[in-house]
Amino acid sequence: MSNAPDVVPSHRPEHNLPPGPQSWVRGFTIGGKVAIERPFILAPMSGVTDSPFRRMVQWAGHGSVGLLVTEFISVEGMTRKNVKSLFRMAFDPNEEQPLSVQIFGADIDRMVNAARLVAGAGAATVDINCGCPAPKVVKRGGGAELMRQEDHLARLVESTVKAVDVPVTVKIRSGWNSDSLNAVEIAKKVVDAGAQMVTVHGRTRVQLYTGVADWGVVEAVAAAVNVPVVGSGDVSTAEEALWRLRTPGVAGVMIGRAAIMNPWIFGQIDDLVAGRPVHQPSNADRMALLERFRDLMAEKMPEHAIPGRIKQLLARMTKGFHHGALLRERAMRARTTAEMFAWIGSFFAADDAGELERWAGREPQAAEVQATAEDTDSCLTAIG
Ligand SMILES: Cc1cc2nc3c(=O)[nH]c(=O)nc-3n(C[C@H](O)[C@H](O)[C@H](O)COP(=O)(O)O)c2cc1C
Repeated sequence: MSNAPDVVPSHRPEHNLPPGPQSWVRGFTIGGKVAIERPFILAPMSGVTDSPFRRMVQWAGHGSVGLLVTEFISVEGMTRKNVKSLFRMAFDPNEEQPLSVQIFGADIDRMVNAARLVAGAGAATVDINCGCPAPKVVKRGGGAELMRQEDHLARLVESTVKAVDVPVTVKIRSGWNSDSLNAVEIAKKVVDAGAQMVTVHGRTRVQLYTGVADWGVVEAVAAAVNVPVVGSGDVSTAEEALWRLRTPGVAGVMIGRAAIMNPWIFGQIDDLVAGRPVHQPSNADRMALLERFRDLMAEKMPEHAIPGRIKQLLARMTKGFHHGALLRERAMRARTTAEMFAWIGSFFAADDAGELERWAGREPQAAEVQATAEDTDSCLTAIG
């Protein structure tokens, strides 16, 4: 997570939205079974999109996320009943609908059994990860490595499709590197094997998160297959999400890093689609969101796991804020969640009162710096 660069704010000022409601924005169905009412999807993000995060984003957007996707989960871990892997699959059926559980691995039997667990748990779809670039994943044949093992991938998808009665979907990159841009071929193969939706992140494995996402690849895949194609990469604002939905043939748009920096983005898209003024979060909204996230985590996690996740969200949310760096520094020194929230609350209150300079001059409370454990199992932190 800490290695992922922020998504760069859009410098395309005009997306030429006509004033008023955007009636051209439509939902779609996956495999004729799963209705996606709004074509905007929360991206799977390892170390980020766990159940509390997904519920928090859905809450911030008043239920406007069209599809929630879990962080990727190892089929090895799931089929060995690894507690962490099974915990990652857990979700709240009341608040997380529809939900796709993303799994990764290379072994066909394990993939099939993991998909059965996912379907049995009540997820709407199973998504197979063919995009993770982390060495520890690709070395074992999973993630983006599957894009180099086309025939094996086809067998993997076919077996998984046969094993479950929920739609199986696949998330790919544009290719392994610039010499092997095979997204179109891969998409055709997995669709022939029974995949019911393909998501394309328009970067190669070698690019990791550098450069810009190539939506031309997304368009080419959409033209080549007859299932919904979702585009992913660099959507930074609600306006940009709508603009990307105009990519010919594209059924949906996935939003990842922008949803960490701005968890209200799905609600803002909804505002634009309805022709309403776009909600701009106040400090009270920010505080309420962080408290909500804390409370959702407290339902499932031990206290010591909470400050690190709050810190992760705060770091992205307060980028560019006046004295944001100082807030982050102070919040990060906090030994407890309560202490962290006292700093955050005082920052927002001071900002609202026009007293940020005074707040900045305050002596930090005596607190030893306590490194909070980052999630080292993330797809990104795994990149050496
Ligand atoms: C922290 C982080 C973790 C990610 N983990 C996953 C993952 O588990 N599975 C996956 O398919 N993609 C993963 N991705 C890729 C995203 O789903 C998405 O395709 C990519 O970030 C580009 O979209 P964005 O520019 O909207 O963030 C991850 C990205 C980030 C930033």
